[in-house]
Amino acid sequence: MKKKSSNEMWGGRFAEAPDDIMQAVNASIDFDKRLYREDIEGSLSHASMLGRQGIIKDSDAEAICKGLRQIAAEIENGEFEYSYALEDIHMNVEARLRDIVGPAAERLHTARSRNDQVATDFRLWVRNRIDRTSAKLEQLILALLDQAESGVDLVMPGFTHLQNAQPVTWGHHMMAYVEMFGRDLSRFRDARARMNESPLGAAALAGTSFPIDRECTSIALGFDKPMANSIDAVSDRDFALEFLAAASICGVHLSRLGEELVIWSSQQFGFISFSDKFATGSSIMPQKRNPDAAELVRAKSGRLNGSLTALLTVMKGLPLAYSKDMQEDKEQVFDSADTLELAIEAMSGMIGDLRPAPERMRSAAAAGYSTATDLADWLVKELSLSFRAAHRATGQLVKLAEDSGIELKDLPLADMKAVCPGIVEEARSVLTLERSVASRASYGGTSPVQVRAQIKLWRRKFK
Ligand code: ARG
Repeated sequence: MKKKSSNEMWGGRFAEAPDDIMQAVNASIDFDKRLYREDIEGSLSHASMLGRQGIIKDSDAEAICKGLRQIAAEIENGEFEYSYALEDIHMNVEARLRDIVGPAAERLHTARSRNDQVATDFRLWVRNRIDRTSAKLEQLILALLDQAESGVDLVMPGFTHLQNAQPVTWGHHMMAYVEMFGRDLSRFRDARARMNESPLGAAALAGTSFPIDRECTSIALGFDKPMANSIDAVSDRDFALEFLAAASICGVHLSRLGEELVIWSSQQFGFISFSDKFATGSSIMPQKRNPDAAELVRAKSGRLNGSLTALLTVMKGLPLAYSKDMQEDKEQVFDSADTLELAIEAMSGMIGDLRPAPERMRSAAAAGYSTATDLADWLVKELSLSFRAAHRATGQLVKLAEDSGIELKDLPLADMKAVCPGIVEEARSVLTLERSVASRASYGGTSPVQVRAQIKLWRRKFK
């Protein structure tokens, strides 16, 4: 990267070159070059507006736009030489523009500051990434819907405290994540709607004395409207924080699913298996098949949470309007956007790849007296016991079965009657896994009828 020796960008005020350390702490070009497309897009609409408003000559506006397009091409072809001394992407582009079009370039920054420029660039960038992330999330939801559909009757243990609780279906469990990622999607969309206002024209912080048309640059850049307060426009980063917060929450959801994949693919559980495409080996233990991707998705949540905390901390207590502190916003957002996208893609890959093991899930679901609640419910419905009394009686029956090392359904009728005089043979029928699952047909419950209805609704949303 080319180093310039002077403080030349600041014009007449500076005679001495900056200290090396000054440059090192100040420069953002290493990372904000990722904003080049948005920076050029913003400058194109600004220059055209300046020309249209008669603030600069049409011929200058045209020269500037032509030069900017050339710069975009140079950057895309890897021909652009970034300069560290020019600090950031904005100054790098402007300096190159001067090389290409000469004095006209010096008119581009009329009625604009890097403060509204960077706020505009960054909003455009985040908006773009929200759209990309949303599309990836939709893919993940579709992969989960496929799993849910093919395993809608598959019985597995439902857990509380990671102890067997009640039988549920694989489809129901998959659909729980569909709901979570669906809310993540709507969080990104909400954030997008709120952030879609244009800071351009706020200038340094107070607006400008030139007769600019903010409405027209806002429309050109696809914003809904210009931001209403110029101080707010250059000094807030809540749009970036909302993106980071949504990414963080989505990351937490991914990490929980990642953790479940790790648990389920263990020998102890054996509920699922991955193909070779999504398993890794060990360099010493030849027999191993490790779920590295699931572990990494579980771990990525740490980075996402870290970025959110970092930017919240940068912004906390900052006086209005712009302070250079805010340059620290970009790396966090870039890292989160990249991390989240990779984690979602890895998760979609695993969800598409994994195969459930119905027999293992079934036998695990049957263990631990998982249908005891069904018996208690039967006592309430058929013998009119209060739920508390039924709970006590069933508890005693579980104890009896446990002491004799048998299943609830195998308890002799006489023993059951000793605890619960009115009980009859028929009560045993509610103890099967299929009956248990099918009986939970309340709205949102695990019965395949309910789950099928939910799958249908979600499929319709993605048509
Ligand atoms: N690189 C700067 C940033 O990211 C651009 C804005 C600079 N503004 C200023 N007043 N120094 O925030």
